[in-house]
Amino acid sequence: MRRHPPVSIPRNLEAFAVDPDAAQIAWRGLPAGPIEVSCADTTVTVDSDGGPGAASLDNLPPSTKLKVRVAPSSGSHHQLDITTPALPPGERLARFATMSDLHLGSDKFGLIFKMREEAGVDVAHPMRCAVAAGREAQEWGAEQIVLKGDLTHHTRAEEWPQLEELVRGFSVPYLFTLGNHDRQPKKKGIDTDKGLANAGLDFAPVAHFDLPGIRILAADTSIPDKGHGTTTQITDEVCDLLRSSDRPVFLGIHHHLEQFALPWFWPPGIPTWEGVPFLNAIRSANPRLMVSCGHTHRNRAYVRKGVLISEVASPKDFPGVWGGYTVYESGITQTVRRVATPSAIAWTDKTRKAVGGIWSMWAPGYLDQRCFTYHWRTKK
Ligand SMILES: [Fe+2]
Ligand SMILES: [Fe+2]
Repeated sequence: MRRHPPVSIPRNLEAFAVDPDAAQIAWRGLPAGPIEVSCADTTVTVDSDGGPGAASLDNLPPSTKLKVRVAPSSGSHHQLDITTPALPPGERLARFATMSDLHLGSDKFGLIFKMREEAGVDVAHPMRCAVAAGREAQEWGAEQIVLKGDLTHHTRAEEWPQLEELVRGFSVPYLFTLGNHDRQPKKKGIDTDKGLANAGLDFAPVAHFDLPGIRILAADTSIPDKGHGTTTQITDEVCDLLRSSDRPVFLGIHHHLEQFALPWFWPPGIPTWEGVPFLNAIRSANPRLMVSCGHTHRNRAYVRKGVLISEVASPKDFPGVWGGYTVYESGITQTVRRVATPSAIAWTDKTRKAVGGIWSMWAPGYLDQRCFTYHWRTKK
C-alpha cells in the first residue's frame, strides 16, 4: 500500500486571496512539474518551473472552513486551512478590475540599490506584468478595467505608445486616470497632453462608466511635476456624478489621502487640508461609495470620515497584483490577486528583496485588507 507523503505547511505557501467563493494560493518555490491544488470540489493543476507560482480556486462554498491541499509531483504534499466569508446578500450584478502603478518604461525597482532584470528579456517587466494582469483579470470575469495612474514611468515620449498597446489589447472597455509619474513634463518627460494625443488616447480629468449596480469614476489627482496630489480640480465634477447616480459609486484615484497633517511615509499623497473636506463632500453627495487608490504600491484598506478607502499595489513589484471587484445589490467585494503568469511572478517575487527586504513586509498588507466585503451605507 502506497503511503501518502508527509503533509506540512511550508513558510513559502500562503492563501493570498480568500473570497466568499474563491481563493488564490501562492508559493515561492515548489518542485518543478505539475502541482495539483484542490479544495472542496475544485481541483486545478498548475505547471511549475520550480519557482514562484499561484493557483486560483473557484466555486468554493461560502462561509465554510476548508482545507486546501497542494500536491507537487514530487516531495511533500502541503495543507492550508482557509475560511471563506459569507456572500453579500442580493443578486450579483457586475465585475470589474483595477490596476495602478504600471510604470511602463521603467527598467529597475528599489529605493537606493536598484534591482534590474537580466539583459536580453523580450518584453520589459512593467509591460509583461501589466499585460498578464489584464489578461488574468479578464479571465476572472472583469467586464471593465480601471487604470489608476502612474501608467508611464517618466512621461517620456516612448512610454505612451506602450500604454496604447496595453489598452488596445483589452477585450473589455477601460477607464484610466493619471498619476504623478504621468505628469513630469519638465523633470523628465514630454507634455502629458501631447503624449496622450500621440498615442491616440482620449483623456478626461473625470471619466465615468456605468455597469449594472455600480457607477465607476476615474479622477485625476495629479499636479504637473509634483509628487503629491490634489482634489481641487476634481471635487465639483466628482460630486455632481455622485449625486446624479442612481447606483453606488466606485471612485478610482491615484493618490492616497493622508492620515495626518505631516506625511509619515513616502510617497506623499493628498494633504489632509484637502483630503478631509473632499471625503466629507463625496460622502454627503452619495454615501453609497468606496474609493480606491494606488501610488503607495502597497495593499491597505481603512474607513476614513465614513468612506471606505483601499490602496492596491502595483502589478510590477512585489507582491505584483491587480484588484478585482464583484458588485452585489447589497455591497461590493474586493479581492487582490497576484499576477500568476510565470514570467511576471518570477520578477515580482524577486523584488520582495527591495529596500533591504523591508518591502516584503510593507507592501503585501494583511489578507483582510486585501479581500473584504463592504456593505453600502445608507446614511450620510
Ligand atoms: Fe507609482
Ligand atoms: Fe504615484
